Amino acid sequence: MKISVVGCGYLGAVHAACMAELGHDVLGIDVDETKVAALSAGRAPFYEPGFEELLTRVLGTGRLRFTTAPGDDLADVDLHFIAVGTPQSGTGAADLSYVDAAITTLLAGAAPGSVVVGKSTVPVGTATQLADRLAERDIALVWNPEFLREGFAVADTLHPDRIVYGVPADPTDAQEAQAALDAVYRDLLEEGIPRIVTDYPTAELVKTAANSFLATKISFINAMAHLCDTAGADVTVLADAIGHDPRIGRRFLQAGVGFGGGCLPKDIRALQASADLHGAVHLADLLGRVDSINREQRDRIVELARTHVGGDLSGRAITILGAAFKPLSDDVRDSPALDVASRLADLGAEVTVCDPQALPVVARSHPHLTLEDDPRAALKGAELVLLLTEWDQFVALDPAEAATGVAERVIIDGRNALDPVAWREAGWTYAGVGR
Ligand code: UGA
Repeated sequence: MKISVVGCGYLGAVHAACMAELGHDVLGIDVDETKVAALSAGRAPFYEPGFEELLTRVLGTGRLRFTTAPGDDLADVDLHFIAVGTPQSGTGAADLSYVDAAITTLLAGAAPGSVVVGKSTVPVGTATQLADRLAERDIALVWNPEFLREGFAVADTLHPDRIVYGVPADPTDAQEAQAALDAVYRDLLEEGIPRIVTDYPTAELVKTAANSFLATKISFINAMAHLCDTAGADVTVLADAIGHDPRIGRRFLQAGVGFGGGCLPKDIRALQASADLHGAVHLADLLGRVDSINREQRDRIVELARTHVGGDLSGRAITILGAAFKPLSDDVRDSPALDVASRLADLGAEVTVCDPQALPVVARSHPHLTLEDDPRAALKGAELVLLLTEWDQFVALDPAEAATGVAERVIIDGRNALDPVAWREAGWTYAGVGR
């Protein structure tokens, strides 16, 4: 099929390449000329394992192109995906200006009878309004939320856990739109991936509910970690034990410095804003708590660092292992690691940050921090070490070898990723979160 993808950020670029991999003829559209030039040359504008290889391969087939000015090309397209960002606005609600701009572009160029598929994360009620605008040109809308994780974006797009369609209320329109999207995802559906067909509001809410539930799990275990700390219990063992219950599950029960990134924090705030708007007071309260627990985790780590250097951070040499919001990513949006690093620097510490992928991004956003990509060099002279992003190369550090370069053997494990026994045996003072 002929497909366009409007918005070639993280989601759109990966989606465009994966649709071409499935055999479709894909046009990626973005307003950012630098991004379009990089993607057209087979260069990923962000770090994502496996993406650049896929991009190069599908560009070679001639089935994928990128442009800033689609012009008449839009008229030939059967199905247009909207994959633009919906960042947090000043009020906490989602900013829909990029979605509106995408719809304006499509209204100008897309052919009557084509289908628009929304993948961006939007507040409940958005799709109904957009569908009314598109109906003026006889263009149907399906809402098809995306659940890919950074670090696993290609595999998650080609083999998702589930596919959700929010379809129009009119049964004939719904059937036609569903058939078009089924044709795009034929290979995935043949693989037996569950497909849930529902209305617009449910499809929109599935996405923010999924991210909010994950965030709630993390804040729950972080709140338990606080009790474990004061009661002398170990939250990691507790998580293992409750996680064996399949109704609970062990994943997303890793206590630590908390969640960050471009999705979970903004999505809980956007859902909170929607809940407020619709009078769902308990949901709004719950999400407010999830957010405040998460933000407090960062305060706790900063306080722990202050305590471990004897109360005064000024001039103290502190090494932070990790800058990305999670491993296998160079994304530092709302990164807990980088937030703690800059707060410690603001409090006067001499902070060195080490990360295998994110340092070029950090150099642009935080020029006052000292950056070092080799962990051994980063540890040299440190009076305190904090592990804040659990990259494999940090978790695999040999505590005895790490001890040789530091000034003081003190480590705060802000991800509960290290073996406390091994680090203590190598002479380190070890502090985790809730253990
Ligand atoms: C998240 C969702 O997991 C995806 O399903 C969703 O599609 C995506 O947002 C999105 O909306 O686009 P992602 O932002 O890539 O994906 O990151 P996650 O893997 O969910 O991790 C989020 C944060 O939670 C990270 O900072 C991670 O370190 C933290 N985390 C995760 C914990 O603190 N503890 C845990 O147990 C798990």
